[in-house]
Amino acid sequence: MSRNYNLAILPGDGTGPEVVKEGMRVISAAADKFGFKYDETPYDFGGDRYLATGEVLPESAVGDLSQHDAIFLGAIGHPDVKPGILEKGILLRLRFELDQYINLRPVKLFPGVYTPVKDKTPEDIDFVVVRENTEGLYAGAGGFLRKGTPYEVAVQESVNTRMGVERCLKYAFEYTKKRNKDNKLTLCGKTNVLTYAFDLWERTFNELGERDYPGIERDYAHVDATCMWMVKNPEWFDVIVTDNMFGDIITDLGAMIQGGMGIAAGGNINPEGVSMFEPIGGSAPKYTGMNVINPLAAICAGAMMLDHLGEEDAAKAIEDAVMWVTGNKLESLAAGKMGYSTTEVADLVIEKMIG
Ligand code: IPM
Ligand code: MN
Repeated sequence: MSRNYNLAILPGDGTGPEVVKEGMRVISAAADKFGFKYDETPYDFGGDRYLATGEVLPESAVGDLSQHDAIFLGAIGHPDVKPGILEKGILLRLRFELDQYINLRPVKLFPGVYTPVKDKTPEDIDFVVVRENTEGLYAGAGGFLRKGTPYEVAVQESVNTRMGVERCLKYAFEYTKKRNKDNKLTLCGKTNVLTYAFDLWERTFNELGERDYPGIERDYAHVDATCMWMVKNPEWFDVIVTDNMFGDIITDLGAMIQGGMGIAAGGNINPEGVSMFEPIGGSAPKYTGMNVINPLAAICAGAMMLDHLGEEDAAKAIEDAVMWVTGNKLESLAAGKMGYSTTEVADLVIEKMIG
């Protein structure tokens, strides 16, 4: 692949544009240092555009975005727009239509970062969640019956296809192998109650594991127990694979044990298509324009994007620089409490990285 990348930039709402700007400054510095190039095309999708035009995503959006090598997203969510419209209309629609069937969320405690889990260190908190990203309860299957009457029925079904489950598990096994840390993959489910959906998951997990991944230890935990172990013994996890809804929930818990939304990054990945990288926190509207929001989650999302594009050295250099900054500079990861402004935090990362 040529080392000239065509990036789509979606700053989005609230503090999204501020953190994306800093993320891109870091990427620009990494490009100079590591000798790759990129073009960036900005897209104004988000709450302001919706309020001004009434359109959530233009018809051309998916087609346009699919022409890029990767997408860098800030945050979606606007206080004046009813919850659900932008999230479903932009974020989920892009995940689905670009078939980004993996949501990859590393949970890694960086040096110097406060974790609410007592006595746990960066050695203990270092695992990755592979969340299925196109099916499950998010598929939108179900509906109302007798809506608005006392006899109303609301059904929301979890859709799990053999193809969808299998490709997610395959990715998780491959990822575990490539990561080569403990070579252990934990399936997080609820086989004791969701006896159809997780039966399919468990059977496929065991079939694939037995057939193709004899070197990977297979482990299983119910989702409720997973939450417990994530707090009590996070060091037990190497890679966790799970469905869309459980993955959504456990990765917020994961973000908290790794120091909060200021640092948590993720990638919506289509291994055969176009992937989208984002800080996993929201748009934090109350901090908009104040230069106090933590840009590290966006910077780490940028590093994940570079890693995905094949710029592993640049990605590693950014992550190392971020770890140095958390370990040596920041007072806290919380907005307004870092001891530095948004811009200054990015400056620190860049200075460290370029050496
Ligand atoms: C996330 C978010 C989204 C999700 C929302 C905003 C639709 O919580 O990326 O985890 O539920 O996937
Ligand atoms: Mn979430």
